Amino acid sequence: MVLQSLFIYYKYIESSNLFKDADLKENQLQIIRVNQQYRKETTMSLLEVNHIKKVYKTRFGGNEVTALKDVHFSVEEGEFVAIMGESGSGKTTLLNIMAALDVPTHGTVSVDGRDMSKLKDSERTLFRRENLGFIFQDFNLLDNFSLEDNIILPLVLAGKKHDEMKSKMMPIVQSLGIESLIKKYPYEVSGGQKQRVAIARSLITDPRILLADEPTGALDSKASTNLLRQLRDINKKGQTILMVTHSNVAASYADRVMFIKDGEVFHQIYKGDMTRSQMLDKICDSVTVLMRGGDDSEQ
Ligand SMILES: Nc1ncnc2c1ncn2[C@@H]1O[C@H](COP(=O)(O)OP(=O)(O)O)[C@@H](O)[C@H]1O
Ligand SMILES: [Mg+2]
Repeated sequence: MVLQSLFIYYKYIESSNLFKDADLKENQLQIIRVNQQYRKETTMSLLEVNHIKKVYKTRFGGNEVTALKDVHFSVEEGEFVAIMGESGSGKTTLLNIMAALDVPTHGTVSVDGRDMSKLKDSERTLFRRENLGFIFQDFNLLDNFSLEDNIILPLVLAGKKHDEMKSKMMPIVQSLGIESLIKKYPYEVSGGQKQRVAIARSLITDPRILLADEPTGALDSKASTNLLRQLRDINKKGQTILMVTHSNVAASYADRVMFIKDGEVFHQIYKGDMTRSQMLDKICDSVTVLMRGGDDSEQ
Protein backbone atom coordinates (compact mmCIF):
# COMPACT_ATOMS: atom_id res chain seq x y z
CA MET A 1 0.00 0.00 0.00
CA VAL A 2 2.73 2.44 1.06
CA LEU A 3 4.84 1.42 -1.91
CA GLN A 4 1.89 1.93 -4.24
CA SER A 5 1.30 5.45 -2.86
CA LEU A 6 4.96 6.27 -3.27
CA PHE A 7 4.85 5.03 -6.85
CA ILE A 8 1.77 7.17 -7.62
CA TYR A 9 3.44 10.18 -5.98
CA TYR A 10 6.62 9.62 -7.99
CA LYS A 11 4.58 9.39 -11.21
CA TYR A 12 2.76 12.59 -10.26
CA ILE A 13 6.04 14.44 -9.70
CA GLU A 14 7.40 13.11 -12.97
CA SER A 15 4.29 14.07 -14.97
CA SER A 16 4.05 17.49 -13.37
CA ASN A 17 7.34 18.47 -15.09
CA LEU A 18 8.62 19.66 -11.76
CA PHE A 19 12.19 19.03 -12.68
CA LYS A 20 12.22 20.06 -16.32
CA ASP A 21 14.56 22.92 -17.19
CA ALA A 22 11.86 25.36 -18.26
CA ASP A 23 10.18 25.00 -14.93
CA LEU A 24 13.31 25.18 -12.82
CA LYS A 25 13.03 28.93 -12.40
CA GLU A 26 9.37 28.74 -11.41
CA ASN A 27 10.24 25.87 -9.11
CA GLN A 28 12.99 27.95 -7.52
CA LEU A 29 10.56 30.85 -7.05
CA GLN A 30 8.06 28.47 -5.52
CA ILE A 31 10.68 27.34 -2.99
CA ILE A 32 11.40 30.96 -2.15
CA ARG A 33 7.68 31.68 -1.70
CA VAL A 34 7.35 28.68 0.59
CA ASN A 35 10.43 29.83 2.54
CA GLN A 36 9.01 33.34 2.80
CA GLN A 37 5.71 31.92 4.03
CA TYR A 38 7.59 29.78 6.54
CA ARG A 39 9.55 32.81 7.74
CA LYS A 40 6.32 34.81 8.11
CA GLU A 41 4.80 32.02 10.13
CA THR A 42 7.88 31.72 12.31
CA THR A 43 8.34 35.54 12.29
CA MET A 44 11.98 35.05 11.35
CA SER A 45 13.53 37.11 8.57
CA LEU A 46 16.62 36.20 6.59
CA LEU A 47 18.43 39.29 7.89
CA GLU A 48 17.54 41.07 11.12
CA VAL A 49 19.31 44.29 12.06
CA ASN A 50 18.32 44.96 15.67
CA HIS A 51 18.79 48.47 17.05
CA ILE A 52 22.32 48.95 15.79
CA LYS A 53 24.40 51.78 17.20
CA LYS A 54 27.94 52.49 16.06
CA VAL A 55 30.21 54.98 17.76
CA TYR A 56 33.72 55.44 16.38
CA LYS A 57 36.19 56.50 19.04
CA THR A 58 39.27 58.35 17.92
CA ARG A 59 42.55 57.63 19.62
CA PHE A 60 43.86 59.59 22.64
CA GLY A 61 40.32 60.31 23.87
CA GLY A 62 39.47 62.67 20.99
CA ASN A 63 36.03 63.24 19.54
CA GLU A 64 33.55 60.43 19.20
CA VAL A 65 31.58 60.02 15.98
CA THR A 66 28.15 58.41 16.18
CA ALA A 67 27.85 56.93 12.70
CA LEU A 68 24.65 54.98 13.46
CA LYS A 69 22.27 55.88 16.29
CA ASP A 70 19.53 53.24 16.18
CA VAL A 71 19.10 51.34 12.93
CA HIS A 72 16.42 48.69 12.97
CA PHE A 73 15.00 46.72 10.02
CA SER A 74 14.69 43.25 8.54
CA VAL A 75 15.06 41.78 5.07
CA GLU A 76 13.15 38.79 3.71
CA GLU A 77 14.64 36.14 1.46
CA GLY A 78 14.46 37.18 -2.21
CA GLU A 79 14.20 40.93 -1.54
CA PHE A 80 16.22 43.56 -3.41
CA VAL A 81 16.77 46.46 -1.01
CA ALA A 82 18.56 49.71 -1.77
CA ILE A 83 20.01 51.78 1.06
CA MET A 84 20.30 55.51 0.39
CA GLY A 85 21.52 58.47 2.41
CA GLU A 86 23.81 61.45 2.10
CA SER A 87 27.56 61.06 2.17
CA GLY A 88 28.63 60.41 5.76
CA SER A 89 25.19 59.13 6.82
CA GLY A 90 26.62 55.75 7.81
CA LYS A 91 25.78 53.56 4.78
CA THR A 92 29.20 51.92 4.52
CA THR A 93 29.35 51.51 8.30
CA LEU A 94 26.01 49.70 8.19
CA LEU A 95 27.10 47.48 5.30
CA ASN A 96 30.35 46.59 7.06
CA ILE A 97 28.44 45.65 10.21
CA MET A 98 25.97 43.52 8.22
CA ALA A 99 28.96 41.86 6.57
CA ALA A 100 30.48 41.12 10.00
CA LEU A 101 33.55 43.09 8.94
CA ASP A 102 32.94 45.52 11.80
CA VAL A 103 31.16 45.18 15.14
CA PRO A 104 28.35 47.42 16.42
CA THR A 105 28.68 49.35 19.67
CA HIS A 106 25.15 48.17 20.56
CA GLY A 107 22.61 45.93 18.89
CA THR A 108 22.84 42.73 16.90
CA VAL A 109 22.73 41.44 13.33
CA SER A 110 21.24 38.01 12.71
CA VAL A 111 21.35 36.04 9.50
CA ASP A 112 18.94 33.12 9.39
CA GLY A 113 18.36 33.50 13.10
CA ARG A 114 22.05 33.35 13.97
CA ASP A 115 23.44 36.30 15.91
CA MET A 116 26.74 37.11 14.20
CA SER A 117 28.21 38.75 17.32
CA LYS A 118 27.96 35.40 19.13
CA LEU A 119 30.29 33.72 16.63
CA LYS A 120 34.00 33.35 17.32
CA ASP A 121 36.35 35.12 14.90
CA SER A 122 37.14 31.94 12.98
CA GLU A 123 33.44 30.99 12.81
CA ARG A 124 32.57 34.46 11.60
CA THR A 125 35.08 34.24 8.75
CA LEU A 126 33.61 30.91 7.70
CA PHE A 127 30.06 32.17 8.10
CA ARG A 128 30.81 35.22 6.00
CA ARG A 129 32.43 33.11 3.29
CA GLU A 130 29.50 30.70 3.15
CA ASN A 131 26.62 33.15 3.44
CA LEU A 132 27.65 36.54 2.10
CA GLY A 133 28.82 37.84 -1.27
CA PHE A 134 30.32 41.28 -1.79
CA ILE A 135 30.55 43.73 -4.65
CA PHE A 136 32.81 46.66 -3.82
CA GLN A 137 32.72 50.07 -5.43
CA ASP A 138 36.27 49.86 -6.75
CA PHE A 139 36.00 46.20 -7.89
CA ASN A 140 38.83 44.99 -5.60
CA LEU A 141 40.16 42.68 -8.30
CA LEU A 142 43.71 41.39 -7.96
CA ASP A 143 45.77 42.76 -10.87
CA ASN A 144 48.21 39.85 -11.04
CA PHE A 145 45.44 37.27 -11.23
CA SER A 146 43.51 36.39 -14.39
CA LEU A 147 39.80 37.18 -14.30
CA GLU A 148 39.12 33.47 -13.88
CA ASP A 149 41.41 33.27 -10.85
CA ASN A 150 39.80 36.37 -9.40
CA ILE A 151 36.35 34.81 -9.77
CA ILE A 152 37.23 31.49 -8.16
CA LEU A 153 39.29 33.04 -5.35
CA PRO A 154 36.55 32.61 -2.69
CA LEU A 155 36.41 28.89 -3.54
CA VAL A 156 40.20 28.59 -3.46
CA LEU A 157 40.12 30.14 0.02
CA ALA A 158 37.42 27.64 0.98
CA GLY A 159 39.71 24.79 -0.16
CA LYS A 160 37.40 23.49 -2.92
CA LYS A 161 38.57 21.12 -5.67
CA HIS A 162 39.48 22.50 -9.10
CA ASP A 163 36.70 20.60 -10.93
CA GLU A 164 34.09 21.90 -8.54
CA MET A 165 35.38 25.46 -8.98
CA LYS A 166 35.15 25.16 -12.76
CA SER A 167 31.65 23.69 -12.72
CA LYS A 168 30.46 26.45 -10.40
CA MET A 169 32.10 29.19 -12.42
CA MET A 170 30.96 28.30 -15.94
CA PRO A 171 27.19 28.90 -15.64
CA ILE A 172 27.82 32.17 -13.79
CA VAL A 173 30.26 33.60 -16.36
CA GLN A 174 27.97 32.44 -19.17
CA SER A 175 24.94 34.17 -17.68
CA LEU A 176 26.99 37.35 -17.24
CA GLY A 177 28.33 37.12 -20.82
CA ILE A 178 32.02 37.12 -19.85
CA GLU A 179 33.07 33.55 -20.66
CA SER A 180 35.28 34.70 -23.53
CA LEU A 181 37.20 37.07 -21.23
CA ILE A 182 38.12 34.91 -18.30
CA LYS A 183 41.73 34.24 -19.36
CA LYS A 184 42.44 37.97 -19.52
CA TYR A 185 43.79 40.17 -16.73
CA PRO A 186 41.94 43.07 -15.08
CA TYR A 187 44.04 45.71 -16.94
CA GLU A 188 42.95 44.23 -20.29
CA VAL A 189 39.20 44.77 -19.84
CA SER A 190 36.80 47.71 -19.42
CA GLY A 191 35.29 49.00 -16.17
CA GLY A 192 31.92 47.44 -16.97
CA GLN A 193 33.55 44.07 -17.67
CA LYS A 194 35.54 44.26 -14.42
CA GLN A 195 32.31 44.94 -12.59
CA ARG A 196 30.74 41.83 -14.11
CA VAL A 197 33.78 39.85 -12.94
CA ALA A 198 33.17 41.29 -9.47
CA ILE A 199 29.54 40.10 -9.65
CA ALA A 200 30.66 36.64 -10.76
CA ARG A 201 33.11 36.47 -7.85
CA SER A 202 30.39 37.53 -5.41
CA LEU A 203 28.02 34.82 -6.67
CA ILE A 204 30.47 31.92 -6.86
CA THR A 205 29.76 30.80 -3.30
CA ASP A 206 25.93 30.88 -3.74
CA PRO A 207 25.61 33.51 -1.02
CA ARG A 208 22.38 33.85 0.94
CA ILE A 209 22.80 37.62 0.76
CA LEU A 210 24.63 39.75 -1.78
CA LEU A 211 25.96 43.03 -0.35
CA ALA A 212 26.96 45.77 -2.77
CA ASP A 213 28.51 49.11 -1.80
CA GLU A 214 27.94 51.77 -4.49
CA PRO A 215 28.36 49.16 -7.26
CA THR A 216 27.72 51.67 -10.04
CA GLY A 217 29.90 54.37 -8.49
CA ALA A 218 32.78 53.96 -10.94
CA LEU A 219 30.75 53.17 -14.07
CA ASP A 220 29.45 55.25 -16.97
CA SER A 221 25.69 55.28 -17.49
CA LYS A 222 25.60 52.46 -20.07
CA ALA A 223 27.70 50.15 -17.90
CA SER A 224 25.61 51.15 -14.87
CA THR A 225 22.38 50.22 -16.63
CA ASN A 226 23.85 46.86 -17.63
CA LEU A 227 25.02 46.15 -14.11
CA LEU A 228 21.66 47.11 -12.59
CA ARG A 229 19.78 44.95 -15.08
CA GLN A 230 22.05 42.08 -14.20
CA LEU A 231 21.47 42.58 -10.49
CA ARG A 232 17.72 42.70 -11.12
CA ASP A 233 17.86 39.45 -13.15
CA ILE A 234 19.88 37.74 -10.43
CA ASN A 235 17.32 38.93 -7.90
CA LYS A 236 14.44 37.61 -10.03
CA LYS A 237 16.07 34.18 -9.81
CA GLY A 238 15.82 34.44 -6.03
CA GLN A 239 19.05 36.13 -4.89
CA THR A 240 18.60 38.46 -1.90
CA ILE A 241 20.42 41.75 -2.56
CA LEU A 242 21.28 44.74 -0.38
CA MET A 243 22.75 47.60 -2.34
CA VAL A 244 24.09 50.86 -0.93
CA THR A 245 23.83 53.65 -3.46
CA HIS A 246 23.50 57.40 -3.73
CA SER A 247 22.09 57.12 -7.25
CA ASN A 248 18.31 57.56 -7.56
CA VAL A 249 18.32 55.59 -10.81
CA ALA A 250 20.23 52.67 -9.26
CA ALA A 251 17.84 52.60 -6.30
CA SER A 252 14.81 52.50 -8.63
CA TYR A 253 15.77 48.94 -9.62
CA ALA A 254 15.15 47.72 -6.05
CA ASP A 255 11.87 46.46 -4.52
CA ARG A 256 12.40 48.63 -1.49
CA VAL A 257 14.44 51.74 -0.82
CA MET A 258 15.51 52.58 2.69
CA PHE A 259 16.75 56.07 3.55
CA ILE A 260 19.26 56.54 6.37
CA LYS A 261 19.43 59.93 8.04
CA ASP A 262 20.91 61.05 11.34
CA GLY A 263 21.92 57.49 12.11
CA GLU A 264 18.41 56.02 11.76
CA VAL A 265 16.08 54.61 9.11
CA PHE A 266 14.29 57.79 8.15
CA HIS A 267 11.91 56.53 5.47
CA GLN A 268 11.19 53.50 3.29
CA ILE A 269 9.56 53.14 -0.12
CA TYR A 270 8.14 49.85 -1.34
CA LYS A 271 7.89 49.37 -5.09
CA GLY A 272 4.77 47.20 -4.99
CA ASP A 273 2.97 47.55 -8.32
CA MET A 274 4.79 50.73 -9.33
CA THR A 275 6.72 50.87 -12.59
CA ARG A 276 10.40 51.69 -12.37
CA SER A 277 9.79 55.24 -13.55
CA GLN A 278 7.07 55.79 -10.93
CA MET A 279 9.47 54.37 -8.35
CA LEU A 280 12.14 56.77 -9.58
CA ASP A 281 9.75 59.74 -9.13
CA LYS A 282 9.00 58.65 -5.57
CA ILE A 283 12.70 58.28 -4.80
CA CYS A 284 13.45 61.75 -6.20
CA ASP A 285 10.67 63.23 -4.02
CA SER A 286 12.05 61.54 -0.92
CA VAL A 287 15.61 62.65 -1.70
CA THR A 288 14.33 66.24 -2.02
CA VAL A 289 12.68 65.99 1.40
CA LEU A 290 15.89 64.52 2.82
CA MET A 291 17.97 67.35 1.36
CA ARG A 292 15.60 69.93 2.80
CA GLY A 293 16.61 68.48 6.16
CA GLY A 294 13.67 66.12 6.52
CA ASP A 295 10.96 68.78 6.94
CA ASP A 296 8.29 66.11 6.62
CA SER A 297 9.82 64.01 9.37
CA GLU A 298 9.34 64.14 13.07
CA GLN A 299 11.75 67.09 13.38
N1 LIG B 1 36.95 54.10 10.87
C1 LIG B 1 36.35 55.25 11.21
N2 LIG B 1 36.78 55.99 12.26
C2 LIG B 1 36.16 57.13 12.61
N3 LIG B 1 35.08 57.64 11.99
C3 LIG B 1 34.60 56.96 10.94
C4 LIG B 1 35.18 55.73 10.47
N4 LIG B 1 34.48 55.26 9.39
C5 LIG B 1 33.49 56.16 9.18
N5 LIG B 1 33.55 57.16 10.10
C6 LIG B 1 32.62 58.29 10.21
O1 LIG B 1 31.30 57.75 10.36
C7 LIG B 1 30.37 58.50 9.60
C8 LIG B 1 29.68 57.57 8.59
O2 LIG B 1 30.62 57.17 7.61
P1 LIG B 1 30.28 56.14 6.43
O3 LIG B 1 29.65 54.94 7.03
O4 LIG B 1 31.50 55.95 5.62
O5 LIG B 1 29.17 56.97 5.62
P2 LIG B 1 28.66 56.83 4.10
O6 LIG B 1 29.08 55.51 3.58
O7 LIG B 1 27.18 57.01 4.19
O8 LIG B 1 29.30 57.96 3.34
C9 LIG B 1 31.15 59.64 8.96
O9 LIG B 1 31.03 60.76 9.80
C10 LIG B 1 32.57 59.13 8.94
O10 LIG B 1 33.49 60.20 8.99
MG1 LIG C 1 30.21 54.93 1.84
